[in-house]
Amino acid sequence: MITPLLYLCVISHAILLIRADSIADPWPKVQNLLSSIPKFRDPMKEAAMEANADEFVGFYVPMDYSPRNEERKYQLIWQNEISDVQHQIYDMLVQSSEQFNNSEATYVLSQIHLWNYYDFPHNLTLAYEYLEKFNDLTHFTNHSAIFDLAVMYSTGGIASGGGRTVVPQDSARALLYYQRAAELGNLKAKQVLAHKYYSGFDVPRNFNKALVLYRDIAETLKKSYSRDEWDIVFPIWESYNVRISDFENGLLGKGLNSIPFSTVRKRTSRPDTGAPFIVQINGAPTTLQFEPIGRFSINGNDGQIIDEEDDEDASERRIIRIYYAAWNDYTGTYSQSRNCERARNLLELTYKEFEPHIDNLDFLQVFYYIRCLQLLGHMHFTGEGFSKPNIPMAEEILSKALTISAKVDGPVGGKACIDLGLINQYINGNVSKAISYYKRAIETRANNGIVEFQLSKLATLLPEENIGDPFNLMETAYLKGFVPAIYEFAVMTESGVNGKHSVENTAYLFKKFVNENEAIMAPELRIAFAELISDRSEVALWAYSQLAEQGYETAQVSAAYLMYQLPYEFEDPPRTTTPRKTLAISYYTRAFKQGNIDAGVVAGDIYYQMQNYSKAIALYQGAALKYSIQAIWNLGYMHENGLGVNKDFHLAKRYYDQVLEHNYKFYLASKLSVLKLHLKSWLTWITREKVNYWAPKTPVNSSEDTHHQTTSWYTQLTNILQRMRHKEDTERTTENSHKDRTAVQNRAAHRDQEEQETSEILGFQVEDLITMGCILGIFLLSILMSTLAARRGWNVRFNDAQLNANGNQQQQQQQAQGPPGWDFNVQIFAI
Ligand SMILES: *[C@@H]1O[C@H](CO)[C@@H](O)[C@H](O)[C@H]1NC(C)=O
Ligand SMILES: *[C@@H]1O[C@H](CO)[C@@H](O)[C@H](O)[C@H]1NC(C)=O
Ligand SMILES: *[C@@H]1O[C@H](CO)[C@@H](O)[C@H](O)[C@H]1NC(C)=O
Ligand SMILES: *[C@@H]1O[C@H](CO)[C@@H](O)[C@H](O)[C@H]1NC(C)=O
Ligand SMILES: *[C@@H]1O[C@H](CO)[C@@H](O)[C@H](O)[C@H]1NC(C)=O
Ligand SMILES: *[C@@H]1O[C@H](CO)[C@@H](O)[C@H](O)[C@H]1NC(C)=O
Repeated sequence: MITPLLYLCVISHAILLIRADSIADPWPKVQNLLSSIPKFRDPMKEAAMEANADEFVGFYVPMDYSPRNEERKYQLIWQNEISDVQHQIYDMLVQSSEQFNNSEATYVLSQIHLWNYYDFPHNLTLAYEYLEKFNDLTHFTNHSAIFDLAVMYSTGGIASGGGRTVVPQDSARALLYYQRAAELGNLKAKQVLAHKYYSGFDVPRNFNKALVLYRDIAETLKKSYSRDEWDIVFPIWESYNVRISDFENGLLGKGLNSIPFSTVRKRTSRPDTGAPFIVQINGAPTTLQFEPIGRFSINGNDGQIIDEEDDEDASERRIIRIYYAAWNDYTGTYSQSRNCERARNLLELTYKEFEPHIDNLDFLQVFYYIRCLQLLGHMHFTGEGFSKPNIPMAEEILSKALTISAKVDGPVGGKACIDLGLINQYINGNVSKAISYYKRAIETRANNGIVEFQLSKLATLLPEENIGDPFNLMETAYLKGFVPAIYEFAVMTESGVNGKHSVENTAYLFKKFVNENEAIMAPELRIAFAELISDRSEVALWAYSQLAEQGYETAQVSAAYLMYQLPYEFEDPPRTTTPRKTLAISYYTRAFKQGNIDAGVVAGDIYYQMQNYSKAIALYQGAALKYSIQAIWNLGYMHENGLGVNKDFHLAKRYYDQVLEHNYKFYLASKLSVLKLHLKSWLTWITREKVNYWAPKTPVNSSEDTHHQTTSWYTQLTNILQRMRHKEDTERTTENSHKDRTAVQNRAAHRDQEEQETSEILGFQVEDLITMGCILGIFLLSILMSTLAARRGWNVRFNDAQLNANGNQQQQQQQAQGPPGWDFNVQIFAI
């Protein structure tokens, strides 16, 4: 009975096997094909190979985002750009994944959609589906895939298709996956969790947990360096830890940012004419300055000035250009990777060519010759650009640099001293000689903290040498930013060397160390930048949002900036999806919590544009507490117009005055606003609140960002008027700027009181009244003019920005609501 059935079974199985055999899993074939085409382009490496890649290429960050556009672009790429081979590969991958449940093929499919590998277009939806499948197939054992999925769940909503969100936002599940990936040893997932505990985002704040995680990562990182790397030559990497807004004018625009630019690795060229730089000559700081016509001068402490005769001959300055070319090749810039071989060639040529002529070179050239030698010696020491280190050669060249420098009374040569110190300490074993070199280098600009780091270690080993306190030395090294010193200092702090131990502080130190290890923890920073300059901002956004989760402040700003930039004057706010807007606000806010004040203002501005005034006020207040001038100004504006708060002219005035206290650049802007306030309160008083002529009766709900225009118009106005009234201003400004802040504050408070009293009886200071009269006159004229303009269809233009481009209705609406002070001037200039 059973036998025939079994027989049937066997046969059917055999048939299945044969069928499976006839269409075998195409994975091995795909693997072959894939290895024959490049996975991705590296524009920075390509630039480094070019003969002269001088200019920064730049990138374009699109303002608007529409899912439909993205889909159209995706379809177009498939229609026009995908080659036959690519089609073939893709079909086989899909077949392997769908018919054979091949996990490798599934993984490749997910990654090519995430990262544009092999020039396939980015598609987060598909990446998400394949990642889910891969994790199912591998039973959630592959931590990098789990991490990717976790990032997707926490950033869900970045991409949406046809109105529906495709990747769901689910922070609970994201947290679960981060934990799972961390348990399996994923460093980035640990970093995300540590950052969450440290900042209290999504989880209750817990410095202990943060510390445990950060320390754990830090120890793994430290183990990844060899002893030589850690002690002697710490590897350098090309840092892309930058906010992409800093390649433009920062988040708030020129002159309005409170946060220094993060772009420290831009191309260096010959110092600008007139830009002095300071060197140490004979221990005394000396200013070296290039002068416009190729001359230079040295200004010592004794005021001695040496002028060289004019020399237009470019070849005389060759050595300077060579040095900067070699330096750029050696360090790399944002748009160009390092090219140590080329740097070496340049330097070796220079070394040989100029050596016989040193005595004939002028001081500036010798100065740069010494710099060339120091760099060449350093490269011999580390082996960069060579097949291996050559210590005797390094010693010879570095000593030569020091000798030449001593002969011409030149600078100390900090770099040479540091390297010679290291050579003597670790290779020749002459510690006392090493220490003497370190002491020479300690005050130079070349000391990035490595000197204190070495001295601290020596001080621990040899207490009898009286080098100093190891803890203090290590702290200095850490403050100067030397990466291994951050770790060592964190360890010292945790073990309570100085008797004080705070969990929060230690967690902060380990966090700093972990985040600094960009090459291991955040290689995506570089990838994101490469994608950006290859015009693939969606891939860059994916990378930046992952890094934002890891807690990189710069990446938080960059991701937010890619999703929502503040519009320039007269531009509409970005058109985008709500989830993106929400996420952008979230990233800006998180960057703000990590100390980026400007990001807080931007988050406030987005809320302002959404007419969520209470949220905007809260953010402005937070930023104002940290002395953000823009935030204080905005608060003044909110109080003036009663947005989100009760209308309060006195408070508004106080805010405008505060702007002045912090920065005299805004002198006129602030003065004008205060005058306008006086005018307003005066009118309100006359009309006894019956006609609230100046107040916007309904919130502005056109897409214009009136508030931002106000600010920028004032700034522009300030520039123009300040030039006109330069004399008057400088008198008043200098009068105050010499006093310290408290004095100014007292004065302001005093004036405040005075004016408050007088304005109650409708009295203004006489000069105020006169100015106000003028302004009122101008203002009435402007209303007349703009009405005329509107009726006769004139195009009133200012700085090429068309005023009534949006139709007359809006302009009239603005008049009815009380123009925020700029438009009358606009008309005046137009006349
Ligand atoms: C992603 O791919 C799917 C399937 O091909 C497509 O329907 C969708 O429009 C794509 N999404 C985007 C944003 O391109
Ligand atoms: C692939 O895996 C899915 C889910 O595990 C399963 O339902 C399906 O039958 C599998 N397909 C093949 C061809 O093995
Ligand atoms: C995850 O799977 C992919 C594909 O099999 C593999 O290349 C990668 O190394 C795996 N990652 C880990 C952490 O195991
Ligand atoms: C170390 O260097 C100093 C100074 O050059 C020298 O006097 C001393 O003999 C050296 N010591 C050793 C152990 O080589
Ligand atoms: C403002 O935004 C916050 C946070 O998104 C929200 O909870 C609140 O309801 C919003 N308020 C208004 C008036 O829209
Ligand atoms: C202004 O707001 C009203 C309701 O608050 C809305 O119906 C109208 O569409 C909005 N107008 C514009 C131009 O956004």
